Amino acid sequence: MSEPKKLFIKTYGCQMNVYDSERMAEALAGQGYIPTDTAADADMILLNTCHIREKAAEKVYSELGRLRPLKEAKPDLKIGVAGCVAQAEGAEIMARQPLVDLVVGPQSYHRLPELEARAGRGRKALDTDFPEDDKFDRLGARPKSQRGPTAFLTVQEGCDKFCAFCVVPYTRGIEVSRAADRVLLEARDLVERGVREITLLGQNVNAYHGHEAGLAGLIRDLARIDGLHRIRFTTSHPNDMDDALIAAHAEVEKLMPYLHLPVQSGSDRVLKAMNRKHTADDYLRLVTRIREARPDIMLSGDFIVGFPGETDADFADTLGLVESVGYGQAYTFKYSSRPGTPAAERVQVAEDVKDERLQTLQALIGRQQRAAQDAMVGRTVRVLFEKPGRMAGQMVGKSEYLHAVHVQTTGVERGDILPVRIVSSNSNSLKGEI
Ligand code: SAH
Ligand code: SF4
Ligand code: F3S
Repeated sequence: MSEPKKLFIKTYGCQMNVYDSERMAEALAGQGYIPTDTAADADMILLNTCHIREKAAEKVYSELGRLRPLKEAKPDLKIGVAGCVAQAEGAEIMARQPLVDLVVGPQSYHRLPELEARAGRGRKALDTDFPEDDKFDRLGARPKSQRGPTAFLTVQEGCDKFCAFCVVPYTRGIEVSRAADRVLLEARDLVERGVREITLLGQNVNAYHGHEAGLAGLIRDLARIDGLHRIRFTTSHPNDMDDALIAAHAEVEKLMPYLHLPVQSGSDRVLKAMNRKHTADDYLRLVTRIREARPDIMLSGDFIVGFPGETDADFADTLGLVESVGYGQAYTFKYSSRPGTPAAERVQVAEDVKDERLQTLQALIGRQQRAAQDAMVGRTVRVLFEKPGRMAGQMVGKSEYLHAVHVQTTGVERGDILPVRIVSSNSNSLKGEI
């Protein structure tokens, strides 16, 4: 038998890329590749890329530049670009960076084995189709080996919302849901392999329609799997947060009290220009209903500052919305003009204004995050333990609210879920006692 070849994958962007990277590694296992976490050892390097903001996309080219010496030292080394930059830029990547052997989009990576073989014959290989067939069916069975207690599971891909700033509808295509029976099968397999918590993924996951009762129906079916203790889902659009899903938050014990519900802006004028199709007040009323259903729910959000046309008054509305919601966690971004999206053509906000707004918003959100985390001190939360901590005898896990919790303990295993009393709140994590 020949020596196993080594595969190094570097993942950028969202959790869907994390899931895809796992599936790509599995697809290449059939070609004799085993994973490595050092690029210098690899026979093949794949960059699984993100196109959401200009900085994210540019990272790919600087990383490729850094790989040049490796390729020079080992001419057989294959270098591939996957993910959303691959989809958006296709063959241009090879033109700009000739050391790239293969380019594969997020909807065609089930064809990686063929592409790898073609690249092995010294030819360039490119596939950025949106094939009719479901790549997940083509990928075949997943391995049976034991794995860590948390897993991502993509149930929905693409998006039809066409927010004026966003590349996702172009890089990931229109909205497609996987059939519920396939998802349930994959979930059961994951649980057999040691998974205790599954996060359902989709660019617009609550638009999921692979189950007759939507995402709420899928969650209720998943909750019946013995051995699966926690269910989460991300990312949701406010307009698809229907009554059934809100009721699931009230009734399904395994559904964790944490919801990522991006609003992007608190100004109706900006929301309209963004094509978000809801007002700030719609969002606030939705938040109220969700909190009535699940009073302890922790909310998280995404915000864009400096969207074209955003004035000081618009930005003040965003601050006002953040004040009234009170987030446990939120992510803030400076608007980045993306080629091909409607907002790219509009008059842009000056960079220094964006910087200032970003700092102001981050300071406010930082205070809210801090307060939410500090409020855990003295409470007992349930922690799913994931791995040993940096210090000897320490285990780290996540609470229901996704806070990282460190516990000094012996006799706790990966995958255990135990009540932990929180004793202190540090910069990025909580400390607790069993
Ligand atoms: N499907 C998710 C978001 C996917 S992108 C949703 O609808 O919420 C993740 C986040 O990146 C978005 O919520 C948005 O805040 C940010 N983002 C997307 N495009 C952007 C752009 N052009 N500039 C800056 N931030 C952007
Ligand atoms: Fe992008 Fe999300 Fe809007 Fe879809 S809903 S276009 S993924 S920001
Ligand atoms: Fe980025 Fe593509 Fe995800 S653009 S955020 S990797 S869907």
